[in-house]
Amino acid sequence: MTRTIVVLAAGQGTRMKSPRAKVLHPLLGRPMLAHLLESLAALEAQRTVVVVGHQAEAVSAVARAFGAEVVLQEPQRGTGHALLCCRELLEAGPESEILLVAGDVPLLPVDELGRFWAEFHERAPRAAVVSLDLENPHGYGRILRDEDGALRRIVEERDASEEERAVREVNSGVYFLRSPELFTLLEGIGTANAQGEYYLTDLFARLAGEGSGARLFPAQEPDRWLGVNSQADLAGSSARLRREVAERWMAQGVTILDPESVWIEPTARLEPGVVVHPYARLCGKTVLTACSEVGAFSVLHDTHLGPATIVKEHCVLEGTTTGAECILGPFCHTRQGTLLDDRVHLGNFVETKKAHLKHGVKANHLSYLGDATVGEGSNIGAGTITCNYDGVNKHPTVLGDGVFVGSDTQLVAPVKVGDGAYIGAGTTITKDVPSGALAISRAPQKIIEGWVAKKKERESRRKPG
Ligand code: UD1
Ligand code: CA
Repeated sequence: MTRTIVVLAAGQGTRMKSPRAKVLHPLLGRPMLAHLLESLAALEAQRTVVVVGHQAEAVSAVARAFGAEVVLQEPQRGTGHALLCCRELLEAGPESEILLVAGDVPLLPVDELGRFWAEFHERAPRAAVVSLDLENPHGYGRILRDEDGALRRIVEERDASEEERAVREVNSGVYFLRSPELFTLLEGIGTANAQGEYYLTDLFARLAGEGSGARLFPAQEPDRWLGVNSQADLAGSSARLRREVAERWMAQGVTILDPESVWIEPTARLEPGVVVHPYARLCGKTVLTACSEVGAFSVLHDTHLGPATIVKEHCVLEGTTTGAECILGPFCHTRQGTLLDDRVHLGNFVETKKAHLKHGVKANHLSYLGDATVGEGSNIGAGTITCNYDGVNKHPTVLGDGVFVGSDTQLVAPVKVGDGAYIGAGTTITKDVPSGALAISRAPQKIIEGWVAKKKERESRRKPG
């Protein structure tokens, strides 16, 4: 029997009160839908279909990035209608067990889901619904059972009587169904409800009517199955995920000094011995190798830190790769294409972009190094600027090994400085400097003795009275 996953993601999510489609709202750095699709991949279904509608193009792009097929639901006339939109695609395929989930339940526990699916497969009921026992069932469809405890029907909050609303067992929005049978069952459903929509939940009343009601799978940890319906729900899911990610790394030997305040996206990877200080953010495909350290308020995007490299407070690192034992910050900004070999030091207010700084290079204060290569052991003085842009094109600056660049130097690219050369402080380099040479372009200093006293005298003579 093949396995198919169908994700319903066509709705706008009006309760989010945002112009963005609900499933595109970010959860720890990526769309909710991306998060869901990645965890569902563990179930190894033969195919995954995502129903899109609102902001279809953007939602489809996320779906396709995870290898899912896309079906358009236009207009959106309810969850039953959304499922019907998959009819052609799924009926053309083989008989299949269908796992149907809403796109707005990003944290559902896949292990438990996998066990439910195994049970569904073994016991082979016609359908099954994952149910939740909630202290506050507000907003959810209520599960109504018959005297034998079998599912009789699901009633939405808006359509429920007072008595029905008192039921605490609710529909999680996760179901197991069978294709193609489910499409025949859906044919009969109507729109006689408070929202005038086709409710897929009506399918279960039909099954019960035929004497073969759906099985119920009560979830063990109900709050993991809660949908995101509002901005507050999204923040709640985000906090939960953040905690889980931090706990997972701590269990693997990472020191996280304040798990409540750090932000570690699920795509980041950390090795044992790493130390993460409060309020650090590790985003995208960031990798921290053994014993590296990230200081408070530093933000790393798609950055790889070599072993024992230390990033101090308030740094922003983007698309950067470092070797071992580098020391960065506080307050440095390394941008896309920064490559640091071992033992490089970058201090406060140093910005780099597309720069390769080789072994032991030091740039400790106030500099911009863009489109630059700096050879081993070179020292970049405070206030050094590579003038890499002439208003039209970018040009490279290449410094050899052991170069000493004095403070307040401008290197007007394209330009090359040979090994071991010295550049005097305050120099504007416009021509290549040969190895071992001194380059200096400073105006010679003049001394005028007694100048200040004469100036004061001149001024006092000019003053009236
Ligand atoms: C639905 C269930 C409710 C359950 C709850 C669990 C129905 C009628 N109700 O209600 O019993 O307790 O989920 O979270 O199914 N969607 C489409 N096309 C549409 C409408 C919705 O793709 O035309 C998608 C939405 O994008 C969303 C999902 O279906 O991902 C659920 O829709 P939503 O409007 O959030 O349903 P609920 O009111 O939460
Ligand atoms: Ca919902």
